Amino acid sequence: MAQVKFTQMKDGDKADYDLLHPLEVEYAAGTVDRLLKALVSLDESLSGYQVTRLEHSLQSATRAERDGADTDWIVSALLHDIGDIFAPYNHDEYAATILKPFVREQCTWVVEKHGDFQMIYYGHHVGGNPNKRDAYAGHAYFDDCAAFCERWDQASFDPDYDMLPIAHFEARVHEVFARTPYDPAVIRPGAREPLFTA
Ligand SMILES: [Fe+2]
Ligand SMILES: [Fe+2]
Repeated sequence: MAQVKFTQMKDGDKADYDLLHPLEVEYAAGTVDRLLKALVSLDESLSGYQVTRLEHSLQSATRAERDGADTDWIVSALLHDIGDIFAPYNHDEYAATILKPFVREQCTWVVEKHGDFQMIYYGHHVGGNPNKRDAYAGHAYFDDCAAFCERWDQASFDPDYDMLPIAHFEARVHEVFARTPYDPAVIRPGAREPLFTA
């Protein structure tokens, strides 16, 4: 395969960067397959729970879909813990960063803050602050994050829940990551869509 001539980026010429651009676009298009693969790898992580992280993710997304939430919510629910793989101490921010160019601002914010909001359920058992979410009191998406955690996240550790398989969600994930990154018509700052309509 053709390669650039430079060994330091500052020495690259236009031909070098013209060569790289389509390759980068092609690589970016493969993101969705890498994400789905990573999600499957969550099937092996974190022992102690009654469900794997993959099952937790599928349950969260299944509940979102059954609540009548839209695609942005469903894909956000599916991927909200993807950061567990490489960023155990800020998995929420990591997942939000992946989603940010492709979903509504509302969903990115909720995924980014869900770790703090989840503390309300167990912070008092682990020496943490259960009221960490109070730092965001009055924020436009506060209630959305509270509902996300209550209905989809904290509820999805049930080995008996009839969750949908990953194949069910693949087309949606592809649709989201095929969007134009940072498209204002997708990001819609300030717009709030309901988590449940069903
Ligand atoms: Fe999480
Ligand atoms: Fe979670």
